[in-house]
Amino acid sequence: MQDILSALEGKRAEARLGGGQRRIDTQHSKGKLTARERLDVLLDPGSFEEYDMFVTHRAVDFGMEKQIYPGDGVVTGWGTIEGRLTYVFSQDFTVFGGSLSETHAKKICKIMDLAMQNGAPVIGLNDSGGARIQEGVASLGGYADVFWRNVQASGAIPQISVIMGPCAGGAVYSPAMTDFIYMVEDTSYMFVTGPDVVKTVTNESVTQEELGGASTHTKISSVADAAFANDIETLLEVRRLFAYLPLAAGQKPPRLSTHDPADRRDDKLDTIIPASANTPYDMREVITTVADEGDFLEIQKNHAGNILCGFIRLDGNTVGVVANQPLVLAGCLDINASKKAARFIRFCDSVEIPILTFVDVPGFLPGVAQEYGGIIKHGAKLLFAYSEASVPLVTVITRKAYGGAYDVMASKHIKADVNYAWPSAEIAVMGAKGATEILYRSELGDKDKIAQRTADYEARFANPFVAAERGFIDDVIMPHGTRRRVIRAFSSLKHKSVQGPKKKHDNIPL
Ligand code: COA
Repeated sequence: MQDILSALEGKRAEARLGGGQRRIDTQHSKGKLTARERLDVLLDPGSFEEYDMFVTHRAVDFGMEKQIYPGDGVVTGWGTIEGRLTYVFSQDFTVFGGSLSETHAKKICKIMDLAMQNGAPVIGLNDSGGARIQEGVASLGGYADVFWRNVQASGAIPQISVIMGPCAGGAVYSPAMTDFIYMVEDTSYMFVTGPDVVKTVTNESVTQEELGGASTHTKISSVADAAFANDIETLLEVRRLFAYLPLAAGQKPPRLSTHDPADRRDDKLDTIIPASANTPYDMREVITTVADEGDFLEIQKNHAGNILCGFIRLDGNTVGVVANQPLVLAGCLDINASKKAARFIRFCDSVEIPILTFVDVPGFLPGVAQEYGGIIKHGAKLLFAYSEASVPLVTVITRKAYGGAYDVMASKHIKADVNYAWPSAEIAVMGAKGATEILYRSELGDKDKIAQRTADYEARFANPFVAAERGFIDDVIMPHGTRRRVIRAFSSLKHKSVQGPKKKHDNIPL
């Protein structure tokens, strides 16, 4: 019996060694952890249960029958983060460059199926040279099996992708269909075709980093939601994100006990709005002031800075925040901001995370580039996402809420539940100057008259009371009391339930 036990230990040790010490050393020399070391950082100590450690590929071409590595380039199973269940896969670059074979794909599919059946997230640590070249179409089929499950799982369980090495060709489409993508700076990249193919086809010269590095995808393309300095920092940030999320649709995110009083007032908010309507202020400060312990996990921080999206807790409960940022493009909505916020809202709605919206928006960004780029269609995404959301929606207008953008930003008209305005709010079709220039075009030569007209318009509309008179605003609140008021609002909406018309699915403008 002892022999059998030590044989098992031997087999396990062999599997744990992946592609061998030499390749592990190479992985370390690049500043990267191995697949198993990464899981040690991601999961609670001792919580990892590995499946399919002894699975091997079945390929026989190109001498593959002589190159057998137990586990076949991916470590799969489940573990816990702060005691909460998650399924994981971690690609092992030391085995055939983490490339995806038929059996490698089957291992991933197995844990995805289990995750869906058991209502727990999937976290995928990607570090792979793509399809296993020696296997050809069998490997491509494996990718498609994963893609299909990504779509089945979307909206049912959170899916988080972490890009920790190469991720190219077909491999990018599995992460692309998950809810969040985190990258590691300098050691990870994603692209559909690499720099060599780009050079051949379009004659553009570009490095791997420029084409698909973390900076490119967090700032320009918005493919990735965040990037961090190294493997450890990135995995710890994934743990932080995980803590905000429910395990599955229909389940509540964990409530984190807080020492921050629900009725804490903050007088700083009474003076945060500058005297001049055209002077910006930092909406991030409003968010962190209202949030439990000032904690704000921002999503896509470096992309479309004119809108802020992310998670906070209010009285211990997860809330998604969407807020115009006056510091960037005066907080105007443009194509990128609309897409960023729409996707975030749809995620929150899919897993029942309530949404708090702070509004200070002068309108949609004018311009030929925006119109040619389809601002109508992309702006509609945001309008659509808010309108279809059935989670509790609480809105606070801090300053400007002009034109169509007022409607879009979780107004009462598209079924937000509780809408507050600060006394500094201006809810109007447009700013007073623009309005008088259109209404009184014939008087434009007369400066005094126009100044009077502008003052009249301001007096009538540059306040929250016209909207409040109609019930479009539920109350005008003191800025210092915002935290208390929104916490109370969300607590009154705890059991919100709405039923839309019967349909197969909607047709959001894509
Ligand atoms: N299939 C099978 N084996 C692969 C592979 C793949 N797609 N990609 C990498 N490998 C193997 C390499 O043969 C090498 O094996 P070895 O350890 O026995 O020498 C090992 O993985 C590491 O690859 P290497 O090229 O030495 O690492 P690198 O860090 O210099 O480069 C890549 C990594 C991903 C850029 C490079 O391997 C590559 O371009 N791979 C092919 C990518 C591709 O075109 N995939 C198919 C499209 S989906």
